[in-house]
Amino acid sequence: MLGGSPWLQLIIFIIPFALKTFSPYVWMDFLYFGDLLRILVTYGARRRRRPLFFVLDRFLEQTVACPDKLFIAFGDERHTYADADRKSNKIARALQSQAGYTSGDTVALFMGNEPTFVFTWLALAKLGSPVALLNYNIRTKSLLHCFNCCKAKVLVAASGLEAVEDVLPSLIEQGVVVLLMTKHCDTSGIQSFLDKVEEAPDSPLPRSLRSHLSFKSPAVYIYTSGTTGLPKAALVNQNRLLTALAILSSNGVTSKDVMYTNLPLYHTAGFFVGFIGPIETGSTIVLKRKFSASQFWDDCRKYNVTVVQYIGEVMRYLCCTPKRDNDKDHKVRLAIGNGIRAEVWKEFLNRFGNVQIREFYASTEGNIGFLNYPGKMGAVGRVHFLHQKLFPYTLVKYDTERDEPVRDANGLCIKSPKGETGLLVSKITDIAPFEGYAQNKEQTERKKLRDVLKKGDLYFNTGDLMRIDKDNFIYFQDRVGDTFRWKGENVATTEVSDILSFIDCLQEANVYGVQVPGHEGRVGMAAVSLKEDGEFDGSKVYKHVVSYLPSYARPRFIRIQSAVEVTGTFKQMKVKLVAQGFDPGQVQDPLYFLDDCVKSYVPVTAQLYSSILSGSIKL
Ligand SMILES: *[C@@H]1O[C@H](CO)[C@@H](O)[C@H](O)[C@H]1NC(C)=O
Repeated sequence: MLGGSPWLQLIIFIIPFALKTFSPYVWMDFLYFGDLLRILVTYGARRRRRPLFFVLDRFLEQTVACPDKLFIAFGDERHTYADADRKSNKIARALQSQAGYTSGDTVALFMGNEPTFVFTWLALAKLGSPVALLNYNIRTKSLLHCFNCCKAKVLVAASGLEAVEDVLPSLIEQGVVVLLMTKHCDTSGIQSFLDKVEEAPDSPLPRSLRSHLSFKSPAVYIYTSGTTGLPKAALVNQNRLLTALAILSSNGVTSKDVMYTNLPLYHTAGFFVGFIGPIETGSTIVLKRKFSASQFWDDCRKYNVTVVQYIGEVMRYLCCTPKRDNDKDHKVRLAIGNGIRAEVWKEFLNRFGNVQIREFYASTEGNIGFLNYPGKMGAVGRVHFLHQKLFPYTLVKYDTERDEPVRDANGLCIKSPKGETGLLVSKITDIAPFEGYAQNKEQTERKKLRDVLKKGDLYFNTGDLMRIDKDNFIYFQDRVGDTFRWKGENVATTEVSDILSFIDCLQEANVYGVQVPGHEGRVGMAAVSLKEDGEFDGSKVYKHVVSYLPSYARPRFIRIQSAVEVTGTFKQMKVKLVAQGFDPGQVQDPLYFLDDCVKSYVPVTAQLYSSILSGSIKL
């Protein structure tokens, strides 16, 4: 990865840099470079090992070094490293004797946060099988789509039988083996699997089962809602997973730490930070089925948690819980995550005491990341010369109305000056590759941007608008195009539009996200037009939306237009709609709100509007 002597390179890069930009952060920069170097050296040494060294091998090392160390605490369950090793052996053995499965086949995992998720993943790693991490909330068409994009031969599901039954006919038609983690199952086409696991031996699996793997082999597929359409399976290869090991160790986490993992393991944040990171450090994972703001600190006290992970929403919810006398009574020293706003950051420290916050920027499939190691409130990271040398990225001017980068007379992008917002793009190179999406060439191409600074160059388009300040801190500003984030999930507007278009009375739907004071991200809203002599039936629309969309993706507001406006190039107009939001004072069209209490869309009145703004109606 790094040719020549890394020390020499570092010195050559760092000295002029340090002298030129002597700033209060320079020592932090030095320390950070030290860490970066240590990571690179460890990584380089692992890459040279034969037989090849994967994340699983790090887990096996930990199992040998500290077999009796607590690996996972889940409710009252306790599993040591050795337990997890044995349990995953049993699952692997049971799978080996499963008709329809051959080791190395891709397997889809449809499970929420529970120890079995971890054991099954380890089992599949032992069998050399790539694992598709299905989002546990998705249903019907999306579920089937996600399953199909990674060409899995087997589906292992925890519970949620209903969701599997919905798509069972299609799975059976494709000859998929469907295994359920229960001891009995009467549904034809679904086999119980737990009974087989319990009978299987727990002897270790031979390494030869993984001999076909290289660093380029797919390790996991993680689903992301990108700019358009149904979720896409981002391919995480073995090399990428190996680099993810450093996530916690590079932030000073050690084997003495106890990590609180409460984000979904099927997403990058939960999987990388909450699961892969602790394997490297040999820490204990306190696994939580679901994030709960009211139980968060009690859990931290109960399990002596020292490190927590977050997304912006988590921190805001925690700050919104009623104040308690024991708010500062805990051992949490580090919070690591992404998306905390400056005002929430400040409030969090006030409320919960001296917790170090490590904010970073990264995406599942992206090839660029930042770390805010100096802890500057509001920033997602710090940019500097060396980092940019290794990972050439730049901010380019972006036209939000046309939804594309601004080009000059030569057809090249224009760099955004310091202090101005621009689209973050990162050059695709050998050390910063973009693996793309499984079975989706078109979407993979859409994330690539050509002719950025030179004719013929190739960049990864992050879809994120960022700004760099004079002290070289980088700030997240907004997402572009056809996605928005709500409750920590990305929502693809076209996917929601597609679902709305099945509703009888609707002609067309234009979906976008609008900001609500006091909330992270954007809440879903749709501007729709009705069919000729169609009538808007609030409860019918409600029923459809609730049965086909996960709660975070449901449009909470609908405005009815006589026709959906399009631009000259027939792109749907969004900027004006987004700006007007759901304010009945600004929107002349009929305006509706998704009301879960009455199970219908109800008209937005001035009173309803102010209740939403004041927070007395929860979104
Ligand atoms: C937490 O720490 C306290 C004091 O150090 C100790 O008494 C207690 O047993 C620990 N609890 C757990 C669950 O490790």
